[in-house]
Amino acid sequence: MKYNFDRLIDCSETNSLKWDTHSLKEQFKTDDVLPFWVADMDFQCPQPVIDALKKRVAKEIYGYSWHTTPSYLNAVANWMRRRHKWRIDTDWIVYSPGIVPATCMLIQTFSNVGEKIIIQPPVYYPFFTAIENNGRKLLTNQLNYENKKYTIDFDDFEEKAKDPLTKMFILCSPHNPVGRVWTEKELRRLGDICLENDVLIVSDEIHHDLILSGYIHTLFSTISEEFEKNTIMCTAPSKTFNIAGLQISNIIIPDEKMRELFNNTIVNRNGIMIPNAFGIVALIAAYNEGEEWLDQVLKYIEANFKFLKEFVNEKLPNVDFIDPEGTYLAWLDFNRLGMSDKELREFMLKKAKVALDGGKIFGPGGEGFERINVACPRSLLKECMIRIENALI
Ligand SMILES: Cc1ncc(COP(=O)(O)O)c(C=O)c1O
Repeated sequence: MKYNFDRLIDCSETNSLKWDTHSLKEQFKTDDVLPFWVADMDFQCPQPVIDALKKRVAKEIYGYSWHTTPSYLNAVANWMRRRHKWRIDTDWIVYSPGIVPATCMLIQTFSNVGEKIIIQPPVYYPFFTAIENNGRKLLTNQLNYENKKYTIDFDDFEEKAKDPLTKMFILCSPHNPVGRVWTEKELRRLGDICLENDVLIVSDEIHHDLILSGYIHTLFSTISEEFEKNTIMCTAPSKTFNIAGLQISNIIIPDEKMRELFNNTIVNRNGIMIPNAFGIVALIAAYNEGEEWLDQVLKYIEANFKFLKEFVNEKLPNVDFIDPEGTYLAWLDFNRLGMSDKELREFMLKKAKVALDGGKIFGPGGEGFERINVACPRSLLKECMIRIENALI
């Protein structure tokens, strides 16, 4: 079927984190703003997901559910094989309600208090809290930024990996917020350094299905058998199919010993084993029947990025648009306006009246940037940009 992503869907009275006025007041101290912050889409979900959920609701019983059913496990494994050319054993799949809680528990399982973990800022901000709030030390391998392009500082990465206290590297691939889809060559170099220095890789690939045309996403674990063994891959249908509220993700751990250790943390020590009944249904329908929707939504997102780039280039001469390669998150550099982060925040919220994610929360290198979620009807994105343009006059 042909989807209409221009359609505005009313999210009021859905307790939406992104749209609810109480939520907005809590996050931004105002609800008089248009939201483009948190990473979920304002689009209708795939029709097969909606139909499967309706069918499940009609059963009229919503008791505990279980996920180690062939329909669930095969849906995940088949998606990895079909879309990402990775053959996995269904035993490798560990359910988690989310990648953020899983990251915290991976840190608890595979490192000790006082040990060090590498991340690559500016990067998804819950990585910072997951590391620091668990008493581990943060090692920041800040990305290089030159000529509106991000690259990895490998020398710095190697130096940090060599530290005997470094136990883990949390990779964000594709990278949120800078939008890089790392090349196989870049990933191989990171993986080799980790192998040489006995550093475990947690590869957060939640955005792995959101790849723009012309780019190829390489699943970290597919690069070599050695990489596969030294990598814990975090994946989910949540970003791909706009079902984040249904809280279902999968942590793929090929190494049996590591899987046992993680299962002990997640199930025995934290009591997490019962997935959301609707999450399971949505995952199965999305992975088995959602591809047509995904291919259409990617085209729409790509056209939104094109619109945004043209708008910025034509109407905001002091703002830089960073060409994205993946995700649906635009990363804009406002540094040439000369505002402090506080001034930029006030400007967006009070003058332009748009709620974006301020770059500073993504750590070093994020200062003066803003992240805009473009997974919304184009009319909304246009309104966002007109508000910013008018506020700058
Ligand atoms: C890189 C990355 N990891 C994890 C998440 C969230 O994961 P979850 O909702 O499964 O906890 C996001 C959400 O934006 C993300 O961008």
